[in-house]
Amino acid sequence: MKKSTVRNSAASGPYEAGKGELIQLTRKGVVFSGSAADLRELRAQFQRDHYIILPKLIEPDLFATILKRIESAPSERKEYDGIIAQTVIDDPLTYNLLLFLISSQEFRGLVQRITGCRRIADFQGRIYRLNPTTGERIVWHTDVYDHRMVTFSLNLTPQEYRGGTLQIRYRGSEEILHEVRNTGPGDALLMRVANKLFHRVLPVEGDVPRTAMAGWFRWEKENVNFHDALRKVSGVSPGGPSAD
Ligand SMILES: [Fe+2]
Repeated sequence: MKKSTVRNSAASGPYEAGKGELIQLTRKGVVFSGSAADLRELRAQFQRDHYIILPKLIEPDLFATILKRIESAPSERKEYDGIIAQTVIDDPLTYNLLLFLISSQEFRGLVQRITGCRRIADFQGRIYRLNPTTGERIVWHTDVYDHRMVTFSLNLTPQEYRGGTLQIRYRGSEEILHEVRNTGPGDALLMRVANKLFHRVLPVEGDVPRTAMAGWFRWEKENVNFHDALRKVSGVSPGGPSAD
């Protein structure tokens, strides 16, 4: 198997390290501090790699408040058809705050420009945690279902965690295209949803659990049962690592 490159967002993003955040979601709206050329570069990276990282997407004060709330929020362990085992954070206020920020017209417009996706109708997601040593995991699957176009994952882990690596590969191939460690607090990943692309998240190791807000930008609003959605998007046998 060809060795893939592991990218660690905390060390260097897909675009120039040290460049800082280009896009920030704030109480007063979206702040874009880049240029049209920066957006073209992000779009080129997305076209090539099927994902990009947006560093420090949430304004620092707001992000600190969100982390504090999540720390003390109730949570519940859930398993879905052998594809996902995770702990879901039940804090409607925090979820709705993030949903409000992510769903803003300005941010949706930027996501459309970067990913080239069609008009975004809505965003749906959840806040979840992968705990170490509990078998919590997300095995190979595709997110194609329910009008999804782009997967979003915002890292809500204040410290650097071990493991929890996102792996991406083409359907029918064993070669890992990309391994991504989105470990920078507040860094967000955008990933293409396509029939040809499969992904999984490796178990978290060490002492620090990995917390994230994950969801999808969709071209049409439709509320479906999350359980049904998972069954339909998966090409895997329960618990199996192979998707084909
Ligand atoms: Fe997924």
